[in-house]
Amino acid sequence: MSPPGSYICTMHTLAVFASGAGSNTQKIIDYFKDHHQIRTGLVVCNKPQAGVLQIAEQAGIPTLLVQKETFFTPPSCVDELRERGIDFIVLAGFLWKIPPVLIEAYSHRIINIHPALLPHYGGKGMYGAAVHEAVIKSGDPESGITIHYVDDQYDHGETILQVSCPIEEGETPETLATKIHQLEHYYYPRVIEECLEPV
Ligand code: GAR
Repeated sequence: MSPPGSYICTMHTLAVFASGAGSNTQKIIDYFKDHHQIRTGLVVCNKPQAGVLQIAEQAGIPTLLVQKETFFTPPSCVDELRERGIDFIVLAGFLWKIPPVLIEAYSHRIINIHPALLPHYGGKGMYGAAVHEAVIKSGDPESGITIHYVDDQYDHGETILQVSCPIEEGETPETLATKIHQLEHYYYPRVIEECLEPV
């Protein structure tokens, strides 16, 4: 039932940028499926074979496959995003650097998730198993996730949330990846929600 009286409700439309399997994208789509104020309006991908494209298709979310040359040439995909009413961008395993024209158009409205405690174990090439292998090799007692605003450097920008988990005896990149994914799946949709509807 609607509350009495008149009120203004701003609907936010997300674009999720992803290059891989898309488990975080799936959780984001599911979390906002019937949300009163936030919807997933587009999945942007740079790999024609990526599993995330099937996830989007099954959920009925439009997709945009981007090519290197157009993505890195202004205006990048800014026009397509605006046409679809996108007002917030979420990176969920997107492996290209975000070009300056997109960062300017979506200033403080692009966030990323990284499977380690930045500023450590981030940067170009630090993705998936490579991150977990480096963490385990270092002997660090813990790892975790970082959710942060995006700037013009890889895995860099103001931190929004970090959550840690212990590295246990006999930990492997695979067991650590499972733990990290669990944290990501829980926290990422909730952080997106808080960024868009601060309490
Ligand atoms: C996630 O673990 C995310 O943290 C990582 O890509 C994975 C995508 O998994 N991102 C980075 O490493 C960014 N540097 P998914 O395709 O199953 O969502």
